Amino acid sequence: MINRHACGSCHWIAGVAEANGTVGPPLSHFGSQQMIAGALPNSPDNLTRYLLSPESVVKGNVMPNQHLTGGDARDAAAYLLTLR
Ligand code: HEC
Repeated sequence: MINRHACGSCHWIAGVAEANGTVGPPLSHFGSQQMIAGALPNSPDNLTRYLLSPESVVKGNVMPNQHLTGGDARDAAAYLLTLR
């Protein structure tokens, strides 16, 4: 799912082929991070919320809304939280 949505064109994500972008922050140790974009405590629910609507969490966010389905957002959140 992360491949399909081209997250990797902007982010470096361990375990995802071709996810070596440097526009956004690297996500390869996201599971050990305390905060999401410095705004929300890192948790599966909050991360799902962020991925569904980055701009509602951080005003003026340069991360574009990827228009994920709820299921895709939960899957991506679950994967990112395994990266430590
Ligand atoms: C067009 C480039 C772009 C794309 C595509 C993109 N992002 Fe981002 N992303 C960013 C930028 C830039 C930020 C930093 C935003 C901020 O901190 O204000 C960010 C921030 C994030 C964060 C928070 C990082 C942190 O350190 O707290 C997560 C998680 C994230 N992106 C996941 C994803 C996922 C999953 C996808 C694919 C569904 C994706 N991004 C697609 C550019 C992108």
